[in-house]
Amino acid sequence: MVLRVFMTEKNNARKCTNDAIKIILYVVFMTTLFLLYFNDNNYEIENSIDYHSAEYNSHYRKVIITENSSKISTKIDDNVKEGYVVWNDNCQIPNISAYDKTIKNLIKKSNSPKCFSTLPLTSVILDVDKWSYTFKINHGVHSQISKSIVNCCYSPIIRNDLKFKNNPKDDDRYKVEPKCYPINDSEIIPKSVEYMMVTCELRPNGDKLKSAVYKDIHAMVIDKGQRRFRNADIPDKPSVLIISIDSLSRLNLIRSMPITYRLLETHGFMSLEGYTKVADNTFPNVVPILTGMFVNQMTKRCWNSPKDEMDECPFLWKDFKKRGYVTAYLEDEPSMGTYNFGKYGFRNAPTDYYSRPYMLAAEHYLPVVKYDGMSFCLGPRSAPDRVYAYMEDFVKLHRHHGYFAVFWLNTFSHNDVNTPSAMDQRTADVLSKLLDGRLLDNAVTVVLSDHGLRFGAIRETHVGWLEDRMPAFYARLPTGYVTARPSHRAALAANKHRLTSPFDLHLTLKQLLFQQLNDDDDNNTNSSLPVAMAEGCPTCHSLFRLADANRSCEQAGIAPHWCTCDEYEELDRRSRIAMDGGKYVVQQLNALLAKYRMMVRKGYACSNLSLRKTVSARSRVNRGNGRREYLLVVETLPGRSMFEVTIGQEDGSGAFGMLGDISRINMYGFQSYCTDDWRLKKHCYCVKKNWKPAEDVTPACVVSVLQMYNIAKTVLRGTTFLAPYLL
Ligand SMILES: *[C@@H]1O[C@H](CO)[C@@H](O)[C@H](O)[C@H]1NC(C)=O
Ligand SMILES: *[C@@H]1O[C@H](CO)[C@@H](O)[C@H](O)[C@H]1NC(C)=O
Ligand SMILES: *[C@@H]1O[C@H](CO)[C@@H](O)[C@H](O)[C@H]1NC(C)=O
Ligand SMILES: *[C@@H]1O[C@H](CO)[C@@H](O)[C@H](O)[C@H]1NC(C)=O
Ligand SMILES: *[C@@H]1O[C@H](CO)[C@@H](O)[C@H](O)[C@H]1NC(C)=O
Ligand SMILES: *[C@@H]1O[C@H](CO)[C@@H](O)[C@H](O)[C@H]1NC(C)=O
Ligand SMILES: *[C@@H]1O[C@H](CO)[C@@H](O)[C@H](O)[C@H]1NC(C)=O
Repeated sequence: MVLRVFMTEKNNARKCTNDAIKIILYVVFMTTLFLLYFNDNNYEIENSIDYHSAEYNSHYRKVIITENSSKISTKIDDNVKEGYVVWNDNCQIPNISAYDKTIKNLIKKSNSPKCFSTLPLTSVILDVDKWSYTFKINHGVHSQISKSIVNCCYSPIIRNDLKFKNNPKDDDRYKVEPKCYPINDSEIIPKSVEYMMVTCELRPNGDKLKSAVYKDIHAMVIDKGQRRFRNADIPDKPSVLIISIDSLSRLNLIRSMPITYRLLETHGFMSLEGYTKVADNTFPNVVPILTGMFVNQMTKRCWNSPKDEMDECPFLWKDFKKRGYVTAYLEDEPSMGTYNFGKYGFRNAPTDYYSRPYMLAAEHYLPVVKYDGMSFCLGPRSAPDRVYAYMEDFVKLHRHHGYFAVFWLNTFSHNDVNTPSAMDQRTADVLSKLLDGRLLDNAVTVVLSDHGLRFGAIRETHVGWLEDRMPAFYARLPTGYVTARPSHRAALAANKHRLTSPFDLHLTLKQLLFQQLNDDDDNNTNSSLPVAMAEGCPTCHSLFRLADANRSCEQAGIAPHWCTCDEYEELDRRSRIAMDGGKYVVQQLNALLAKYRMMVRKGYACSNLSLRKTVSARSRVNRGNGRREYLLVVETLPGRSMFEVTIGQEDGSGAFGMLGDISRINMYGFQSYCTDDWRLKKHCYCVKKNWKPAEDVTPACVVSVLQMYNIAKTVLRGTTFLAPYLL
């Protein structure tokens, strides 16, 4: 049904409205049913929560600032020019205010749905010393429950190793054991159970007829019998803890997560204000951090077909594991996981602890409530809460031992500049808990993002253009490490106002891994380290070395399209160059669509695109290297897709060339439903084969139907009522 709306274009406007009305009516009806159903089950679904309510405060308003940060010297020889965050001959990045007046009207506080009424009914409590978990039924949480008889049982969730590839969805596999083992309050959970689905039957006043069912899924960081090495006494071999909040620019961290920002700024975390992304979206910016390569280099090395899994690729966690570190990777929103969105992830868990089965099962078996299109509530707890809780347990258990762990959060930051505000307090709380518990004393902690918001209204402003390219980056070195290698801290601190990139981070992590206790690597002359170079950026180096004062984007591995070092001059969008450039860009888009046309589902194709208009054209100032460079935003038909591209024009021949990737700056939504290929997803406008594009598709209609569909999916997750209507 929804799909058909996109395909029958002739009378699309009226039909679209009719469909929208039908869907609205249906959604209202289903929502009512849904609420009735879940009220019975002691869930409370609310679309907004007052974060200043007493109840919320009592649970969460507890940031304790204890660390004495004044004892760390912060004297930095810093000659950044006023008004800039990076300033040298080759790079001048302006110091734009997070509250710039051009984006003020786009900024507001955002509230996430509340996933539970008081506390979830069941929880698992870690005993660090015994390395065991106790199952807890929280009888007191609800007056109705305290009077009920509660009977719970659990089914372990497992993912077995595979020797060979079975099918493309190997990374999506998990199994819930059919048997449900009874479990009592305060009972120790068997040590082999890593994930479990808990089902409780509630009988108010013991009444058999009125029983309700409660479900949750719990994750335990179990002892997998690894030989762990103690690094509490080896300051030189710290663990690595990486926490990433997807699509969060440095400025948006300041704006939408002020509590977390203040915490980072006052607790020894050091910011890199010139940290710039090197590719468009998550995956191609993560690959440089974890492999030191661009994706196209990785495809040659170890990932021959996009239909392959990435088990063979040299991700850093492999090196850490080889050297005795325990490894972990957790990510929420598994449907758009970094390694799985349009890709096939890993056949076998890439790290010792790997959350995919947990997140998939939670999304599948628990009622999901969306937050701005993301699966935020998974049953009685939010997805980011689940990641944070797991992270806390993991760090507690490994606080004295070497580990390399990455925690990736998508669900509250991916789609909107304002949504991170809902998790600000919670994020600050979890960080301050780790700091207060001295759990980070042996770990280098990095809080970062992959890029800023990539689409939406803010992207049509200059501030949004900059933010897209400049993700948040904070790193904290443990005190022992700073004492052992003071020069590393000094360099990292001074790099705050230098141009830096994910390749530098890669080399920093490698340096942590390979440096020897007694080698003097500060000057790094005898490079016994197998680490000196990142394939994607031979001129990059560890952040523990001061970056060249005059570093250019090219030297930092940043293609011109992502470079924010230059000023731009606004051109008339109807000028010759804007028109010719626009046509060239559309040609390139069509060439790309043709190149990967085999990746489209049978019976469909990506429509050829045509230029509707050049939306804006800017010319890069001060580029005297044999070509002129232009930043264009073009709108194409069908679908009114907006693309942002940097092109170069040779001084002599006038020939155009692409300088980096193509950014898609409005949402593609369902337009590319006919392909899962990550190279096409942003560009493809799906049509049935032999279909003729109509003049235009009203984007407002497309969006409203899309939103409708999302709401419908949210409400009906786990039920099949809507299926016959939609499909
Ligand atoms: C913090 O450290 C400084 C220098 O070591 C010291 O003078 C100061 O009293 C400390 N403050 C607190 C609150 O411990
Ligand atoms: C950038 O501007 C902010 C105020 O908007 C100021 O607090 C900060 O110190 C400035 N940064 C630099 C490097 O000048
Ligand atoms: C759980 O509680 C029931 C009833 O109180 C009891 O019979 C059973 O032995 C308990 N199971 C365990 C494993 O403690
Ligand atoms: C490292 O290089 C700096 C300057 O190049 C020099 O002053 C310092 O002595 C060198 N350190 C060692 C341990 O060689
Ligand atoms: C440089 O490293 C190599 C390999 O570890 C070692 O054999 C050699 O002695 C080192 N040279 C110096 C000058 O330290
Ligand atoms: C940067 O400055 C150094 C000297 O400080 C010089 O050797 C180098 O060529 C300069 N690089 C660029 C790109 O200007
Ligand atoms: C796109 O245009 C090319 C050449 O202009 C043509 O061969 C191809 O069939 C067109 N594709 C579609 C989907 O219309």
